[in-house]
Amino acid sequence: MLLRGGRLGDVSEDVLSYISSRDADKRIFEADLMVDRAHLVMLREQGLIPEDDCSKILSVLREINESDLGDGEDVHEAIETQVISMVGSLGGRMHTGRSRNDEVATCIRVALRDEMLGFIEELLSLIETALSLAVEHRETLIPGFTHTQHAQPTTLAHHLLAHADTFTRDLERLTDAYTRVNLSPLGAAAFASTGFKVDRKRTCELLGFDGLIENSMDAVSTRDFALEVLSDLAILMVNLSRVAEELVLWSTSEFCYLELDNRYASTSSIMPQKKNPDTAELARAKAGSVIGSLVSALTICKALPMSYNRDLQELTPHLWRGMDWTRATVRILNGCLSTVKFNTNRLYEFAGAGFSTATELADSLVRATGMPFRTAHLIVGRLASRGSHPTLEELDETALELAGMKPSCLGFTKEMLERALDPRSNVALRMGTGGPAPAETKRMISDRIFRTGVLADMIRSKRRKVETAMEDLRQMK
Ligand code: ARG
Repeated sequence: MLLRGGRLGDVSEDVLSYISSRDADKRIFEADLMVDRAHLVMLREQGLIPEDDCSKILSVLREINESDLGDGEDVHEAIETQVISMVGSLGGRMHTGRSRNDEVATCIRVALRDEMLGFIEELLSLIETALSLAVEHRETLIPGFTHTQHAQPTTLAHHLLAHADTFTRDLERLTDAYTRVNLSPLGAAAFASTGFKVDRKRTCELLGFDGLIENSMDAVSTRDFALEVLSDLAILMVNLSRVAEELVLWSTSEFCYLELDNRYASTSSIMPQKKNPDTAELARAKAGSVIGSLVSALTICKALPMSYNRDLQELTPHLWRGMDWTRATVRILNGCLSTVKFNTNRLYEFAGAGFSTATELADSLVRATGMPFRTAHLIVGRLASRGSHPTLEELDETALELAGMKPSCLGFTKEMLERALDPRSNVALRMGTGGPAPAETKRMISDRIFRTGVLADMIRSKRRKVETAMEDLRQMK
């Protein structure tokens, strides 16, 4: 036991396994080696460790595998123990001027930023899938819903663009959070910094961070960056669960708007005919699990006094779980969407169902006759209560009864009536900003393609910066 020799002596297996973070630390093993390297190089440059000792330690760091490590409270202790067993007591110089408190906070940030960059790229791919489906379906009419009731006709492109825009905001939230994740706490030591002349800016640069978490007490004690990422993931999962729910609902025999590819479906152990949308159901459910991770993490941090508290160790697995579940959900839903078959005939059939053109009929009456919208709403509402598509005579009759006038005498023609009742003309008329008219969705699609391209470039340049720093650091001898 590296740490207990001086003060405490032995510990029981039971206590050790209770306080150990070794399992979760597998996620930060590689990051820890990088943090060790950066710290060592800085110590050498500052003259705080002999050149030879530094080189020896750097060279054994190359040889250590996670599976070589013995037990210990955490990966930091286990790696240090292993270094000392390989180079002798000079290995004990590695921990000069640092603590596991700044070390772990740095490791989590290094591992998390890699996760985030990979994840953001997968999210971009989901957005691209939604956009390319939108390109295909600009003219595909579908029923639009409010309250899960037929409301107005729209297009599949319009619907998919709504999801794509939602996910783009999710992505922007995560890239924004990244700017607060990629900051270095290293050099804060236990919390009060250190009397050794460590160069925090240098380790920051060596590790490819964009800046420091300056206050050393803040640096070791905050996990707000993890809370922020988990919040963003939870919001994203809520948004993803809406797509998942639509896949479930739309694949029922009642809706029959789409069919999932067999690879994303399951069957029943008893009912041989079944094709169940299990992937989408689990995507819907995982939103609950990720929200659970966020709530756990928030609750662990709540009311923690300054500065480092071991409670923080309990948070980290929730961060990785939230990340893994969200990442898997993005991947699976991307697969579902890129292989799904839309039943465009059925969608067209229902685009005008439930008198969903009623709003346009009322609007057309207003435009042609100049009657107040509320009067038109009353007339069309009455017609709707009697069944759907009225003739011009029925319209005149109802208008006369309710408003004392006949629309046909005020310039409302049969052609106007037919156009108002046609779902395709409804959509074509909705060409205002953000509407479903094919020309407008075309504009939105090209705008979104451009914007996702800009985001992809930004992510690539962040990745390049981090990878270059890590590559240079790995080469240091
Ligand atoms: N395993 C610990 C964690 O994840 C590392 C820091 C331990 N620090 C300490 N003072 N015991 O938070």
